[in-house]
Amino acid sequence: MRGKFITFEGIDGAGKSTHLAWVGEWIKRAGHELVVTREPGGTGTGEAIRAMLLDPATQLHPDTETLLIFAARREHIARVIEPALARGVWVLCDRFTDATFAYQGGGRGLPMERIAQLEEWTQGSLRPDATFLFDLDADAGQARIRASRTGHDRFEREALEFHERVRATYRARAAQEPNRIKLIDSSHTIADIQVELEKELLTL
Ligand code: TYD
Repeated sequence: MRGKFITFEGIDGAGKSTHLAWVGEWIKRAGHELVVTREPGGTGTGEAIRAMLLDPATQLHPDTETLLIFAARREHIARVIEPALARGVWVLCDRFTDATFAYQGGGRGLPMERIAQLEEWTQGSLRPDATFLFDLDADAGQARIRASRTGHDRFEREALEFHERVRATYRARAAQEPNRIKLIDSSHTIADIQVELEKELLTL
């Protein structure tokens, strides 16, 4: 049987990484083999592209940024994601194409149709089986990032309005695809969020 493909999304600072680790442990306890990976990244080429994308010194036209993200994604799908799913291994991915719609579409203003065309080309019929969207006020997200680390990357340095557009796009996508995208209120306690995650995992 094919593995399940689960992605984690949300604005910077929404806490998805903490929950991703917990979901990974839950899935292993349930007896499934698991690959945990991230985007941009997940392969040697992908991690090199990630370093360039996140470096505050890099200057990129929004089209170039988007094409690089999909180039990294193509490699990731071909070498990591598809082979794992085909072997029956579950794949947890920290961000995927919803992030491109949210950041490059919503944040940078790239036309959504362009992104949809690249999605079609790069992924064929591959879509996540489930997506956990961690939703939080953009200013709360910014505050968490500022409190948790120094040396902010190219996206974290964007203005509050950028992160507000990212959040609005994520929420709009969740409203359009409620069966796939589970909206999770990141202002809830970690324990409450875990109860909610477990409920969703059981349906998978
Ligand atoms: P993130 O996943 O938040 O990692 P970390 O927790 O190490 O900061 O960082 C990746 C950044 O890349 C994030 O700010 C969003 C951005 N990004 C896009 O703009 N488009 C995409 O398609 C993806 C996958 C990520």
